Order: sequence, then structure tokens, then C-alpha cells
Amino acid sequence: MSGATDGTHPRLQENHFVLEFPSLPANVAFSRYAVAAFASQLDQFTLVDIEDIRIAVSELVSNVVIHAYPDGPGPVRVEGRLREGCLEITVSDQGRGIANVEQALEPTFTTLPGERMGLGLTFARQLMDEMTVTSVPGEGTVVHLVKRPSAAPVQPPAVSS
Ligand SMILES: Nc1ncnc2c1ncn2[C@@H]1O[C@H](COP(=O)(O)OP(=O)(O)OP(=O)(O)O)[C@@H](O)[C@H]1O
Ligand SMILES: [Mg+2]
Repeated sequence: MSGATDGTHPRLQENHFVLEFPSLPANVAFSRYAVAAFASQLDQFTLVDIEDIRIAVSELVSNVVIHAYPDGPGPVRVEGRLREGCLEITVSDQGRGIANVEQALEPTFTTLPGERMGLGLTFARQLMDEMTVTSVPGEGTVVHLVKRPSAAPVQPPAVSS
């Protein structure tokens, strides 16, 4: 029998993945499922934490699908890393970039008024512990996220002899 079923498996130390796919709408759901499954390896994440991660990844990959490549699908890269008890995610593209990142981060700012609400980056920032957006017009955008488990670490029960 595997140790994973009796609680004796070693504590997860570190893991990572890289996904690359075209910026097609179908890949928004694909990437959020993939990242949620990866994040679930960290036992300390609550269901609410995993939901937060799913929403944030959805918003960022949607942004690439909608905004990054006006002339047709281009590459999206999603990287994840579990280390030191937290999850780091990077969503990057080589698309048109963001002219003014500070403005893009303002709630309700959108370059597609009437079509979009301008809330995706705001939600992602609220749901994660850290978010940094780096963008170069004409070269692309990189969004880095960090999520820490919201629950206190579970202490193993004391064993009395
Ligand atoms: N990967 C990206 N490439 C190019 N521009 C982007 C990218 N991500 C965001 N943006 C720009 O930043 C703006 C704000 O993004 P945000 O996700 O907050 O709102 P939105 O996508 O316009 O609307 P919503 O997310 O509510 O549908 C976008 O309107 C777009 O101009
Ligand atoms: Mg958006």
C-alpha cells in the first residue's frame, strides 16, 4: 500500500511545472484546472484558497486571450512552483504589452469599455497575497503571483506513551 493513504508520505518540499499553449478561449478553463490540481498538492491550502487561485489564473489567462494578441492566437506560458509552503505562479505572453501598468491596475480601467468591466487584474490582486505586473509595449506581459495558505499549519496530534 502506498504511504500516501496512511499519512506517512514525506511532506511535499518543492515541485514545479511549465505549461505553454495558444491563447484560445478553451485554454482558460484548461489552465485554471491544471493550476488548481497542482496547488492541491499543498495540503495547507483550503478550498477557498484553491478557488481564489482558480479565479486569479482564469482572469490572467483570459486577459492574454482577449488583449494580448489582436491579430490571432499567440503563445501563453503558465509556470507554477510550490516552495517553502507557498505557491508562485507566472503567466506570461509575448503580445502587445500594456502601455501604462499602473492605470491597468486601477479598478474599472479597461481598454475595451462597453465590452469589459476592467476588474480582472483588481480581482486577481485581491485574491492573491502578492501580484506584480511587468510589461513592455510590443514585447509582452509577465504577471507574477504568490499565494500562501490562509489556514494556520495543522499540528500533528501529540502522541502520549
Ligand atoms: N496580457 C495582457 N496584454 C495586453 N493588455 C493587457 C493584458 N492584461 C491586461 N491588459 C490591459 O489591462 C486592462 C485591464 O485589465 P483587466 O483584466 O483589469 O480588465 P479587462 O480585461 O479590460 O476587463 P475584465 O477583466 O473585467 O473582463 C485591459 O483592458 C487591457 O488593456
Ligand atoms: Mg481582464
